[in-house]
Amino acid sequence: MSELLPPLLLVGCGKMGGAMFDGWLKEGPAPSFIVDRHRDSVPPPHQLVRSLDAVPASFRPGMIVLATKPQKVDAVLPALAPFAAHAPVLSVLAGRTVESLATALNACLPAGSGAPAIIRAMPNTPSAIGQGMTVCYAPPPATSADRRLCARLLSAVGEVAWIDHEDQMDMVTAISGSGPAYVFLLAELLEQVGINHGLPAPLARQIARQTVAGSGALMQASGLDAATLRQNVTSPGGTTQQALAVLMAPDAWPATLDAALAAAARRARELSGPQPVS
Ligand SMILES: NC(=O)c1ccc[n+]([C@@H]2O[C@H](COP(=O)([O-])OP(=O)(O)OC[C@H]3O[C@@H](n4cnc5c(N)ncnc54)[C@H](OP(=O)(O)O)[C@@H]3O)[C@@H](O)[C@H]2O)c1
Repeated sequence: MSELLPPLLLVGCGKMGGAMFDGWLKEGPAPSFIVDRHRDSVPPPHQLVRSLDAVPASFRPGMIVLATKPQKVDAVLPALAPFAAHAPVLSVLAGRTVESLATALNACLPAGSGAPAIIRAMPNTPSAIGQGMTVCYAPPPATSADRRLCARLLSAVGEVAWIDHEDQMDMVTAISGSGPAYVFLLAELLEQVGINHGLPAPLARQIARQTVAGSGALMQASGLDAATLRQNVTSPGGTTQQALAVLMAPDAWPATLDAALAAAARRARELSGPQPVS
């Protein structure tokens, strides 16, 4: 039997924090504190509190997980600092660099405290069903034990990968963080084009949704690479080849996706650093 997860201090239990927490519940962490203003309840022995001030000062989390919106995090750092003096911090905040978070947290730590260990992670929403993709960056002073614990936590909600250069996180954000939205857009557009060309709306919706969902499941189940799966659908001179000739023209999807991902990565870079409190 695998070792129990240590006690966790989760700050922010909305869409992403909630998805991760639901995954951890399956592994049964030691009694943990969940800080969130909106969640209704958490199962015992865990405790839900509305503010960090309600977490007992004697609580010693094995890891602190920061999952507020990036612009809300600076407001929680003073109350978080006493716990961060003893535990690594796993941040899923989009665009917030380790250095920027460490500097802000350091300013709240008692004089003489060591530098806080911060691991930055970029998860995505399929984490809610255990099918997430999370990419992590853990520079020193995060230790290999911190990395192992982080990997255990995040593998409870999907696959985990690591990068050694934080600047790669912007493109990671553009691909896997924002990527589910592009796939959902594809389903929306397939449905809409079907309707525009005379299909009944319920049928257009059903075939668009199941095609996207079934294709993802086939890619996962087969282990084949995407190009092979695409070629398997493409008979020479057939219908698919006609459509792909349009989509794969250099100024079509290759150029559009390149521009879209570059725009997302640029925004991720812009979001780095402290955010104004909203
Ligand atoms: N959703 C995604 O697809 C995704 C993907 C990758 C990374 N992320 C990252 O995950 C983080 C969370 O995103 P989300 O979509 O899960 O946001 P969310 O649904 O708004 O969840 C954040 C929760 O934290 C609560 N909160 C914030 N400050 C608090 C405080 N001081 N005390 C108690 N509760 C507090 C919020 O309440 P209030 O609304 O009242 O502030 C909210 O319930 C973000 O940093 C985002 O960049 C999200």
